[in-house]
Amino acid sequence: MRKKPFPSWPIFGKAEEKALIEVLRSGKWGIGGEKNAEFSQAYAKWLGVRRVVTCTNGTAAIEIALRAVGVKPADEVIVPSYTFVATASSVLSIGAVPVFADIEPETYMMDPDSVEAVITPKTKAIIPVYIGGGPADLDRILKIARDRDLRVVEDAAQAHGAEWNGKRIGGDGDIAIWSFQSSKNLTAGEGGAMSTNNEEIGEDAWSIMNCGRRKDRQWYEHFILGSNFRMTEFQAAILLKQLAKVEGQMKIRDKNAAYLAKRLKEVEGIAPLEAYPQTTRHAHHLFIMRYDQNAFGGVPKEKFVKTVNKEGIPLAPGYTIPLHELPAIRNYSLPYVNLDYSTTKLPVTERACKEEGMWFHQSVLLGTRRDMDDIVDALLKVKKHSNEPA
Ligand SMILES: Cc1ncc(COP(=O)(O)O)c(C=O)c1O
Repeated sequence: MRKKPFPSWPIFGKAEEKALIEVLRSGKWGIGGEKNAEFSQAYAKWLGVRRVVTCTNGTAAIEIALRAVGVKPADEVIVPSYTFVATASSVLSIGAVPVFADIEPETYMMDPDSVEAVITPKTKAIIPVYIGGGPADLDRILKIARDRDLRVVEDAAQAHGAEWNGKRIGGDGDIAIWSFQSSKNLTAGEGGAMSTNNEEIGEDAWSIMNCGRRKDRQWYEHFILGSNFRMTEFQAAILLKQLAKVEGQMKIRDKNAAYLAKRLKEVEGIAPLEAYPQTTRHAHHLFIMRYDQNAFGGVPKEKFVKTVNKEGIPLAPGYTIPLHELPAIRNYSLPYVNLDYSTTKLPVTERACKEEGMWFHQSVLLGTRRDMDDIVDALLKVKKHSNEPA
């Protein structure tokens, strides 16, 4: 059994300490400071988009983004069900209706055929989620949206730095959302942002984030119903320092992920998810694998994960309940629509949650080649034992 811990997260040092003290001593902790604007510009430049608007967190970013692209109560928004709850709960929070599409078995990304199958005259938007850090099938999803005049809100909460056809994602749909929550590859503990190449949507997103204000207008003149979703200067100051580290950390994850995927070929019954050929860079927020219990003597997913954990390997079961089966979603009601997910069936999503899907978190991929070898050795050991007669 391995005793040595895997790399801890977040990674920080004197630069973050200095930046925080600078904000503290400036007395400009919120409005009036320069760090939010500085980070927004730096992140927009890094992504290669026209506009970034910061906010409190990724969940709020989805709500703001949906409102900025014109989603109204009772509109339908197509979402995957193999994702974090916020992807669907934000739709409900603004009074709209999440409609679930299935995922593809090899990639766990939103299945464009399934999206097409659930489009109705009430559909207003699609939220492709870049689960684990690789883009969904952007070409097909953007075409479906363009052909039917639907808005695309990219949920890139997990995908900082991912590329599609050689270009960083974040400006392909109408708007993309980002999370800087503790686990994310770019973090300030909490935080979120939206990115867009559409100036009008960017202005509306900024306004909704900032109490419905308009830049260059009176402070107490509010134009649209917004809220206070402003990020603090402390968060922006940390993000500026963390952004400088992202590329170096990505290189380490790229190398370890490629090596781990190669070595996992030795473990029959564990297969990393596939990426689309257009995915020229994966953010590796999660290293997601498919588990086949038949290759492990019929041991179910949950028990397998616990056994691997006992070997000192931080394998996680990931999402275990599809969003359409969560009590929070099932028990929610809207006064003007009959929400009923009791008959929703998404076979690939359900299998991913209950039988197949499991992952390593991004910080595991910041380890050494030896760490990756330890993972594979532990999996081979568990496999050997699970196939032995009881
Ligand atoms: C896919 C996805 N969407 C949205 C969110 C919400 O982000 P946050 O936790 O910053 O609210 C997260 C992160 O937890 C996520 O993983």
